[in-house]
Amino acid sequence: MASAQEITYAAGSNRTRQSRKTKTVNAPPELISEDDIKARVSELAREISADYADVDDLVMIGILKGSFIFLADLSRRLTIPRTIDFIAVSSYGKGSKSTGAVRLVMDVRGNIDGKHVLIVEDIVDTGHTLKYLIGILQSHGPASIKTAALLHKPGSAEVDVPIDYVGFGIGDEWVVGYGLDFAERDRTLPYIGVVTPDDR
Ligand code: PRP
Repeated sequence: MASAQEITYAAGSNRTRQSRKTKTVNAPPELISEDDIKARVSELAREISADYADVDDLVMIGILKGSFIFLADLSRRLTIPRTIDFIAVSSYGKGSKSTGAVRLVMDVRGNIDGKHVLIVEDIVDTGHTLKYLIGILQSHGPASIKTAALLHKPGSAEVDVPIDYVGFGIGDEWVVGYGLDFAERDRTLPYIGVVTPDDR
């Protein structure tokens, strides 16, 4: 989508006579570049396409909100039939520490009974969210469930949970961008950056 300055307004719109300046903000330091993300997402897409080559009913389930950009890029690079659904959960609220108590905000819309499911997460930290999700989705009777996460914090794991496709392992830093936020900020950064929340 075009930035405010690039939008072409209809002739006569009073917006054409206004000059809008972009607010300058401090960009978080980069941990993983846009190019490295692109390359890794393409590799994951090739791997997933090969693994599901004989499957014609793959359902990719994005976990809202954080996975929306990863899901969009990953799904468009697959070379196999796939459909998209979403489920929404929340565990962190406005703070930076997992409460461990995961809350279902919105269930999947489609019927996944007998279908092959790939859960798509932006990040697996303590593992509570993914474990909870696998339990919920298993109750819908899918043929199989696998998991993909762009980021994994192996040092923060509190529960054992299988991750079949991992983009990058990272340390304990709080990361933003490419779908991930801190208090809803920085989700649309094109790279993965690091922030230091005050409550850590
Ligand atoms: C984040 C992230 C994962 C979860 C991982 O979601 O998107 O779903 O935390 O943490 P865990 O492994 O410790 O359970 P969050 O609750 O921040 O919601 P959001 O995706 O809407 O930002």
